[in-house]
Amino acid sequence: MAYRNLLVSDRGAVRTITANRPDKLNALNRETLNELTLAFGQAAQDDAVRCVVLTGAGDKAFVAGADIAEMNGYTPLQGQAFSATGQQLMSRIERLGKPVIARIPGYALGGGMELAMACHLRIASEKARFGQPEINLGLIPGFGGTQRLLRLAGRGAALELCLLGKQINAERAQELGIVTQVVAPEGLDEAVQAVADQLAASAPCAAAGILDAVLQGGETGIDQGLSYETQGFALCFATEDMREGTTAFLERRNPEFKGR
Ligand code: COA
Repeated sequence: MAYRNLLVSDRGAVRTITANRPDKLNALNRETLNELTLAFGQAAQDDAVRCVVLTGAGDKAFVAGADIAEMNGYTPLQGQAFSATGQQLMSRIERLGKPVIARIPGYALGGGMELAMACHLRIASEKARFGQPEINLGLIPGFGGTQRLLRLAGRGAALELCLLGKQINAERAQELGIVTQVVAPEGLDEAVQAVADQLAASAPCAAAGILDAVLQGGETGIDQGLSYETQGFALCFATEDMREGTTAFLERRNPEFKGR
């Protein structure tokens, strides 16, 4: 499928989706949000895709936020619809059932930081900058930023970043638990590829079970969370991959997971 604002490519079982508006630092307008929603829907449906990398075109930005020019003329109802569209996209990514890595070369601000936080792992260049600057525009985060930042980094960091609207560097973002890994700019692709390849070679049912238990468990009590874990654990016993993984250990060889 051809997109106006995205690039989509496959390398083995790794799909890379690139927000491609570099002249606007990959800002999220409505059309880009809709295309991302479609692209992630396709990635979810395609059994050949085991891991998704999400990034932005160019080396200056991952995504510099929701499109301010487009929002400038919105009515409250249009603002509500824009927020709902953005939140649906973030939830779709978070609940994809396959690991999603955010590859962050530069600015991840506002909607860009929200997009990165909806991914499961974040690998950033030392040049990356993070922030929720909406307050500087007379706005609040609208694509889940107040909620996901709260859950990822705690109330102190959420209030500091959202209230002060300031930018933080990748090192500080890692200290806060927002970023998984920080690498030199020239090492970004290699680092992302190594993690993506590892995830793509892992057992999909196990990966899906971990995503489900961690994400659902974060929103519920311990008993319900443990129940998610038991269900996911039990489901793995129905897969060839689990037999292969345990047999390979006993035979002292590397497992070859087939996604069955
Ligand atoms: N929405 C729409 N356009 C954006 C944008 C956004 N969120 N962020 C950047 N752009 C556009 C700029 O308007 C500019 O377009 P132009 O060349 O047609 O004027 C282009 O991208 C380059 O941005 P520019 O501001 O010139 O780059 P810079 O290096 O001077 O500054 C930033 C980079 C990221 C610091 C700055 O662009 C910025 O603050 N962006 C907005 C961040 C933000 O508030 N995001 C949250 C939105 S809710």
